[in-house]
Amino acid sequence: MNILVIGSGGREHALCWKIRQSPLCGTLYCAPGNGGIAAVAECVALAPMDFDAVVAFCREKEIGFVVVGPEDPLVGGLVDRLDAEGIASFGPSAAAAQLEGSKGFTKDLCTEWNIPTAAYGRFSDAAKAKEFIRKKGAPIVVKADGLAAGKGVIVALTAAEAEAAIDEIFSGRFGAAGAEVVVEEFLEGEEASFFALCDGKTALPLATAQDHKRAFDGDQGPNTGGMGAYSPAPVMTPGLCARAMREIIEPTVKAMAARGTPFKGVLYAGLMLTAEGPKLIEYNARFGDPECQVLMMRLDSDVLPLLMATHDGTLASAALRWKDEVALTVVMAANGYPGDYKKNTEIKGLAAAGAIDGVEVFHAGTKAEGPRILANGGRVLNVTATGAGTVEAQARAYRAVAAIDWPEGFCRRDIGYRAIEREKQNA
Ligand code: AMP
Ligand code: GLY
Repeated sequence: MNILVIGSGGREHALCWKIRQSPLCGTLYCAPGNGGIAAVAECVALAPMDFDAVVAFCREKEIGFVVVGPEDPLVGGLVDRLDAEGIASFGPSAAAAQLEGSKGFTKDLCTEWNIPTAAYGRFSDAAKAKEFIRKKGAPIVVKADGLAAGKGVIVALTAAEAEAAIDEIFSGRFGAAGAEVVVEEFLEGEEASFFALCDGKTALPLATAQDHKRAFDGDQGPNTGGMGAYSPAPVMTPGLCARAMREIIEPTVKAMAARGTPFKGVLYAGLMLTAEGPKLIEYNARFGDPECQVLMMRLDSDVLPLLMATHDGTLASAALRWKDEVALTVVMAANGYPGDYKKNTEIKGLAAAGAIDGVEVFHAGTKAEGPRILANGGRVLNVTATGAGTVEAQARAYRAVAAIDWPEGFCRRDIGYRAIEREKQNA
């Protein structure tokens, strides 16, 4: 069967790398792909938001299954369009993707279904939002309602900072995404990413993972899309996973089905592990990036039947096998990220890095120019390695980082430190 993957990041490279290994996979295409994806899939210059072009391409190349990576086409209704055209795909409908597309929608769903999350208010008026902030006090969290490429959340340490964030969002900085805000209680705890495949009725939890959201070592500096990740996440004990499924994921799947908008695809819960138990910070309607990269490295089962089962409604009879190994990924980003950075700088040493035992270098933002690979984004490479434990996976990943010759890039040096501390405690 011919497959089309939509997207151009490290997540899509890892998905293509894994799908390529499936005996069910015929020709694999990726739109638009990147310089690394080109090694495992045929990259096609299609814009993910140009649904007419995507449909025409599917017809021309007899695509049997489309895997949608990023949130924009999901929230924009690509899966609805493909459904209407009779083309099977992985991902939620636009109505179901509201779990990511509207923070207010998700908060109200949590209230209605008793799903643990931070206490909140929804506002489309600055004065009322500020009054709420003054009443609640800081620290407090201000969020633009809609998709803001991960930049619409302000964790404010003072009420003044929170009020400034309100003004900024309502000033139009985030466009339509900022027409409404959610103001919520600050939750204390450790964060973890929790993923479950869903077919509208059944949810199948994936292996655990954690990412590092801050730009600099020691989890300092500005928030980013993610500077590294690992799986498993020892903090997510079997007991916590069971609670996350029972208290958060399963009621959500039920709620979405009851609303007539069943969720299909992968539900990604950002969790805060608080003293009272796991609470939902936010939902995403897609795989995490870079969490997907470590999950794909550890997945032993063929990924394609699993993705197809979410569409066909047959997850209840699907089984998942994971490799016993730990996987860890280090994000190499362009100097300056998440602020301004340079593009088109040359990256060398990729072959040497990829030749290290257990290492895969996924490309997040690159383009090929003849034989040269150039940086083409903020997060540029995901240097990923497996190992018997986190220490080994981390050592291999950083050995590969050292083989990469790219003076215009940087990475964190401490990816996985929490897992390593826990491994030491348990040894
Ligand atoms: P989000 O885009 O909603 O995941 O938020 C981005 C980041 O902001 C999260 O990963 C957390 O680190 C932080 N954050 C969001 N909501 C809260 C909250 N209620 N309490 C504490 N931190 C939060
Ligand atoms: N790693 C965070 C995200 O994918 O949103």
